[in-house]
Amino acid sequence: MLKELERILRCPVTGGDLVLDEGASHYRVKDSEQVYPIVDGIVDFLPEQADRIGEAYDAAAGSYDSFLTNSNLLTRLYNLFVWGIADDTRYAKIIVDCIPDDFRGAILDVPVGTGVFTEEKYSRLTGAIVLAVDYSMGMLRQAKARFEARHMRNVALIRADVEKLPLVGSSMDAVISMNGIHAFPRKVAAIHQMSGALKEGGRFMGCTYVKGIRSITDAVVNRFYSRKGWFTRPFFSEEQLMMVLGEVLASVKKTRVKSIVVFEARK
Ligand SMILES: C[S@@+](CC[C@H](N)C(=O)[O-])C[C@H]1O[C@@H](n2cnc3c(N)ncnc32)[C@H](O)[C@@H]1O
Repeated sequence: MLKELERILRCPVTGGDLVLDEGASHYRVKDSEQVYPIVDGIVDFLPEQADRIGEAYDAAAGSYDSFLTNSNLLTRLYNLFVWGIADDTRYAKIIVDCIPDDFRGAILDVPVGTGVFTEEKYSRLTGAIVLAVDYSMGMLRQAKARFEARHMRNVALIRADVEKLPLVGSSMDAVISMNGIHAFPRKVAAIHQMSGALKEGGRFMGCTYVKGIRSITDAVVNRFYSRKGWFTRPFFSEEQLMMVLGEVLASVKKTRVKSIVVFEARK
């Protein structure tokens, strides 16, 4: 799999070709001294970079899944208060259901997080390659453990910044961005990068928090999540999100579950 990826991975800084070393311990940028290490099977395109967002998520990586999946009474009550949603991960299902199980081709998932909503789907996509990208090593390690437990060989884990994707442009058949846009600092640039990675006609689907729908949610997001570094201001309203998506994508369809907008579009 790592050897196969030489064809679609590129240096995120120069765009140069990458060559996997013989021991599969790093990629080297062709005609350069720059190397990107492969740490425990995770390709690290940010080897020297620590970041407030990455650290905040690394710290939360252990408890993240139970909050997202409403796995116990406490997290259900918490999510009911903050999001107005007690037991509803319908938005995640809408997204993964957009990809048929016999899908063939390359899928970019950014940010993959711990893979909690996608592992089951990806385990069925045996004809696809998934490039699972995240800024946080902690989240990627959890995703790795999860995918390995299912003996999945179709997912490559990559530490990179959504704004500097280490990919050949227009090389992906689909892009998934679940709960990421509200975390990305420069949201318009991130959407342009993700759509730039897509082939013409490729599908782009995801979901994100939008401001201005539910005042309790907005207050918690602004006072708590933003300070923690889990979400990053400024946030899109529903209209702003649709406008930015509409600038780079066609046939944008949306569903909203309280403050979460789920979208699906084509390039
Ligand atoms: C709320 S999690 C969503 C993860 C997963 N898609 C899900 O729905 O469970 C947001 C993720 O965005 C990642 N992230 C934040 N800024 C990023 C960036 N600039 N590039 C890539 N990933 C980033 C964080 O590390 C975190 O894992």
